[in-house]
Amino acid sequence: MKKIEELLAANRQWAEELTADDPQFFERLSEAQNPELLWIGCSDSRISPTSSIGLLPGEMFVHRNVANLVNHSDMNCLSVMQFAIEVLKVRHIIVCGHYNCGGVKAALDDARFGLVDNWLRHIQDIMHKYETVLKHLSDSDARLDKLCELNVIEQVISVGETTIVQDAWERGQEVAIHGWIYRIAEGIYRDMNISARSLAELDSLREKTYSNRGSIGTLHAN
Ligand code: CO
Repeated sequence: MKKIEELLAANRQWAEELTADDPQFFERLSEAQNPELLWIGCSDSRISPTSSIGLLPGEMFVHRNVANLVNHSDMNCLSVMQFAIEVLKVRHIIVCGHYNCGGVKAALDDARFGLVDNWLRHIQDIMHKYETVLKHLSDSDARLDKLCELNVIEQVISVGETTIVQDAWERGQEVAIHGWIYRIAEGIYRDMNISARSLAELDSLREKTYSNRGSIGTLHAN
């Protein structure tokens, strides 16, 4: 790892590069932020959301936690969502999971790491909910991949079920929720085609997900 001093030197270089083409970049940024996107992703160090999708500082509001979970009692995540939707008026929320997620794997393996196990209980709930899908996959990597995908679907639904998104849709505010999945080994994101832009679309996603619980493979990322 680089020394702390080297990090600060790298930061100066980064700031210089950004202002070389646009000298007022940071000055302008200091006045306001106007992001159109909210990112809800995993804390995994191998993912660098803003730069990996070609965005600059100021273009995306970000919330990350272990295994990109959206729980309705998590004041941290809910506060980020409320501020992003009601104050910043973001138009898109991307819930991004990733294959080989350590949090999902720990839940699947029933591994013990301490306090974080309580957080990962939510993934074990998803695992039990889709037991029939998962038990048909004999390969442990395939099971992990599938649970990572199911986790994204469940979190997209969870975002849509918050009072924050429901109220926004009710007052006619445009907010679209998307589910993406990242493969660290490729550096590539895929859209899982489970976007919801309204209550009707959320209902249809819920219906499609829960009625196909035995054969949810149709929801595979493309
Ligand atoms: Co992860």
